[in-house]
Amino acid sequence: MYLLNWLTQAATASIKAAVPAASAPAAPPPTTATETATKSMTGPKIAIVVYSMYGHITKMSEAVKKGIEEAGGSVTVYQIAETLPQEVLTKMHAPEKSAFPIITPEELAKYDAFLMGIPTRFGNFPAQWKVFWDSTSGLWASGALAGKYAGAFVSTAATISTLTHHGVIFVPLGYSQAFGQLTNLSEVHGGSPWGAGTFAAADGSRQATALELEIATIQGKQFYGIVSKVKFN
Ligand SMILES: Cc1cc2nc3c(=O)[nH]c(=O)nc-3n(C[C@H](O)[C@H](O)[C@H](O)COP(=O)(O)O)c2cc1C
Repeated sequence: MYLLNWLTQAATASIKAAVPAASAPAAPPPTTATETATKSMTGPKIAIVVYSMYGHITKMSEAVKKGIEEAGGSVTVYQIAETLPQEVLTKMHAPEKSAFPIITPEELAKYDAFLMGIPTRFGNFPAQWKVFWDSTSGLWASGALAGKYAGAFVSTAATISTLTHHGVIFVPLGYSQAFGQLTNLSEVHGGSPWGAGTFAAADGSRQATALELEIATIQGKQFYGIVSKVKFN
């Protein structure tokens, strides 16, 4: 029954996406040649989207952004909406949120490629990220994210499976650009061929190290190197 309701909802969203309501303004015309030319001159539209409660992922996102910019790209950083009430956040000793704008599913669909910053919750990604993805059935039904490229810093299998349903192409960090850093055994560090990562420590007191931030910057550069070669419509 639940599945039926959800599918009906998704199908309605799909029809809404395909057929604008009579009173709604006409849909914008398809991308013109000039727009396409401008886009290819300026490179792909990239977003970094983070959820960060204690600031570790926010810090990592700055390093990833630096990498994209050093590679010649530009990027906008967004955050996922908080779902916990302030009372709970206070009890969890969460500091004030960053000033990044809050992203909506419709906003995400405007980008060619995106990198997700994800902290861990009991071995999975946070409910805030799940709530965001659970509000994307309209995008899924219209295939709005299909063929886009995505990467993640601190990634989980659940994230990849969500991207798969949307037809988004996952870009792993791999080893080719960060072999020395990822295989460095002289110090404890986060990061894997899936993407950059950091360890916050049991009490959240550990901040990303120089090596972890270096890997995040390499990921930004490597991600831009791949998506800047793609011809987005
Ligand atoms: C409810 C909760 C569950 C968590 N579960 C895990 C976990 O399973 N594994 C882990 O390594 N860290 C876990 N953590 C610690 C988070 O990974 C850590 O707080 C987070 O990486 C900090 O990132 P942020 O400062 O960007 O929010 C958990 C934290 C909270 C609040």
